[in-house]
Amino acid sequence: MQAIRITRRAATRTLAAALMAASLPVAALAEDTVKIGVILPMTGPSASTGKQVTAAMKLWQAVNGTKAGGKTVEIVVKDDTGVADVTKRLAQELVVNDHVSFLAGFGLTPLALAAAPIATQGKVPMIVSAAATATITEASPYIVRTSFTLPQVTAPAAEQAAKQGWKKAITLVTDYGPGIDAEKTFKERFTATGGEVVAELRVPLKNPDFAPFLQRVADTKPDGVFVFVPSGFGGLFVKQFVERGFDKSGIRLIATGDVLDDDLLDDMGDVVLGVTTTHHYSAAHPSAENKAYVAAFTKANPGLRPNFMSVAGWDAMALVYAALDKTGGATDGTKLVETMKGMSWVSPRGPITIDPATRDIVQNVYVRTVEKVDGHLWNVETSAFEAVKDPVKAAKAAK
Ligand code: PHB
Repeated sequence: MQAIRITRRAATRTLAAALMAASLPVAALAEDTVKIGVILPMTGPSASTGKQVTAAMKLWQAVNGTKAGGKTVEIVVKDDTGVADVTKRLAQELVVNDHVSFLAGFGLTPLALAAAPIATQGKVPMIVSAAATATITEASPYIVRTSFTLPQVTAPAAEQAAKQGWKKAITLVTDYGPGIDAEKTFKERFTATGGEVVAELRVPLKNPDFAPFLQRVADTKPDGVFVFVPSGFGGLFVKQFVERGFDKSGIRLIATGDVLDDDLLDDMGDVVLGVTTTHHYSAAHPSAENKAYVAAFTKANPGLRPNFMSVAGWDAMALVYAALDKTGGATDGTKLVETMKGMSWVSPRGPITIDPATRDIVQNVYVRTVEKVDGHLWNVETSAFEAVKDPVKAAKAAK
C-alpha cells in the first residue's frame, strides 16, 4: 500500500519525528498536531456516505501512519445528519474553536455549499470528498475535490446509450444539483448522437417514491431510461423498478454508478445482472492498488465493501498528507491549496490529478456491467475513458 503514497520518505520522516518528539517540551506537542475536521452525514438517509468515507480515512491512517510533514494528523469527525444548517455550524465551530487546518467530507451538495463561505473566511482548505455537483468548486477558492462531478460520469453514459442503439430515452433523476447536472449532460450528449430525450423526470430528494415516475416511463415506452439517484438511494430505486416488471419490459436501463453503488449492489439481486453504468470507481477495478485497498478495507470493516465514496475519503487523506509533506508541515491554508493544485497520484480507482485550473479531479471514467463472480455481484469494468475532466468547466475554459 505504501506505493500509493505520493512522496514518502517514511524511514527518514519517522526518525525525524521521533527525535523531535523526544526533544520537545509537552506544551509544544499541540502545535505538532494538525487537525482535519470531517463533516459528514453519519445518521439519516445518507449515513452510508459517512460510514464509507470515515472508514477509508481511518484505514489510510492505519496503513500509512499518522505523520505527515513532521506533524501528527488527527481526524475529528462530526455528524451533520444531512442538514445544511448543521454543516455550517459545525464548520464554523471546527475552524474557530478547534483550529482545524482542513475541512473535509460533505456528503451532499447543499451541505458542501453551506460550508463553503466558512472555508473562504477562515482560509481553510475544504476537501470535498463526496458531493458532486459541477459548480461546487466555484463556491470557494479553498475547495479542492477528490470525488467526481456528475457531468464527468454522465457524458459516457449518453454515449453508451447511443452505442446500444437507443433512439428515444427518458431521464429520471433526483431533483437537486447533481441530478440536474446529470439530466442536462445526458440530454446534451444523447441529442448530439441523434437521439431524443422524450421526457425529463425529477424525483424529490426527500422520501422519494419512484412508482409514479416509473409509470410515466412505462406509458411512454422509450428505448431506455437513464437514471441518477445519490448514493444510498439505489436500493429503493431498483426495488420499485423490479416491482413494476421493468426488468422484463424491454425498456433498458443505463445509470451512473451512484445507482448500482458497491455499498448496496450485492443485495440488489440478479435482476441487475447485465445493467450498464458509468463511474470513476468500482470495487472490482482490477489494479494492484485497488486489490490491496479492497482487501485492507474489508478486513478492517467486515461485511462492508468499499464504494466510490470511500475511495474519495482515501484520496482526501492522500492529498492532505502529500500537501503537508510538501509544505514541511506548514498549515497556511492558501499555501496548502496552491500546493495541492496539479498533484497526481495513483488511487485505487486509477491515476488521478487535481486540475490546477479548477481544483476538480481529473480521472478515468469506466463503463461497467454487472456480473456475478464467485457468487457475488460486481460492477465489472469493460472499457475506460481516460483522464476525463469535468466537461462543464472544460467547455467554459475553451470559450
Ligand atoms: C451530491 O449531493 O452532490 C451527491 C451525493 C451522492 C452522490 C452524488 C452526488 O452519489
